[in-house]
Amino acid sequence: MKKYVCAALGACASIALMAHAAAAETKVGLLLPKSGNYAALGQEIDDGFVMALEEAGMADDFTLVREDSEAKPPVGVAKARKLVLQDEVDAMVGIVSSAVLGAVRDFVDGSKVPLIVANAGNDAATGASCSKYIVRVSFSNGQVNRPMGSWMAEQGIKKVYTLAPDYAAGHQMIDAFTESFTAAGGEIVGSEYTPFGKTQDFGPYLTTAKAASPDAIFVFYAGGEAISFVKQYDSFGIKKDIPLYGSGFLTSPLYVKAEGPAAIGVKTSLHYVPTLDTPENKAFVAAFKAKFDRPPSEYAVQGYDAARVLVEAVKAGANDRESIAEGLTKVSYTGPRGPLTIDPATNNVVQNIYIYETVADGDALTQKIIGTVPEVRDPANGCSLK
Ligand code: BEZ
Repeated sequence: MKKYVCAALGACASIALMAHAAAAETKVGLLLPKSGNYAALGQEIDDGFVMALEEAGMADDFTLVREDSEAKPPVGVAKARKLVLQDEVDAMVGIVSSAVLGAVRDFVDGSKVPLIVANAGNDAATGASCSKYIVRVSFSNGQVNRPMGSWMAEQGIKKVYTLAPDYAAGHQMIDAFTESFTAAGGEIVGSEYTPFGKTQDFGPYLTTAKAASPDAIFVFYAGGEAISFVKQYDSFGIKKDIPLYGSGFLTSPLYVKAEGPAAIGVKTSLHYVPTLDTPENKAFVAAFKAKFDRPPSEYAVQGYDAARVLVEAVKAGANDRESIAEGLTKVSYTGPRGPLTIDPATNNVVQNIYIYETVADGDALTQKIIGTVPEVRDPANGCSLK
């Protein structure tokens, strides 16, 4: 979307044509981890994003510039600066880690470039540190975990021990769970945060957790750490006595196959489950499987919906950073995950939260939905966009 200057009339005409062609293309920076603990998540978001552009017949209308955030805050900031200042993107999409989102927030807001958050749940980004340039189509850490605290208390679970990686997402997910679980009468009998991306052996943490004699253990882990944790929880031998609960990233369809039977019986909450029985989701799952030969995960849907809101905004006439930021907030539809709208008060997505159990399906694993909390909307948390 470049501006052209012309002197002679003939030059004006041909340059106007070029300008039209250029204006038809929107330049998007995809800022995702392609290495480290969250590499597979980044690729899955990328796959969902590209699939939605192709499905809309608009792959040629977008130029994609990809940068690897490595899920590290300083790298994420450097890559965001490169995308905005050097590549001059019209919008950025991505960010998996809450820590990276926290680090890039001021740069995004100051440079007035719309950022469609396609994973990172950092509550502050659509709360106290919200920005009209940050629109989230994934989830917030509070949104996914608050419903689970109330639900577990309703199931008669009284004492819970919590575990999570020691960074922003781990703390926020556990805080949200704790808040609703204790408000419903539950008790947290112990809590520990494990070094993020460095913990290979969860044994010592599980020993301490077991000694606290909880009715259940509730955790947040994602990516490679989720695989290690679920397998070690099972091999440690406490699953039969102390059931495992968590936020649904723990047993994501993206890596549940690698977890194997260790994941059976784990109950979690999430904003997307591929077994949702709706026409929109069935069509999405069939198309994704046909293209990638695997079922889609929440990360794929987040990438898919990030592209879809962008496509809708551009089709409605958004053609520069300011109008894209505006346009994104107006999009609303029923998609694979169910109804999706953007809350004008915070720019966070409003969506259903599903509680699901990972169960055996022959030799494979699948997700059985055991509860739905409709249209969960975050409190404004200090944000006043409207
Ligand atoms: C986060 O850092 O916000 C996050 C990372 C992976 C899965 C879910 C949330």
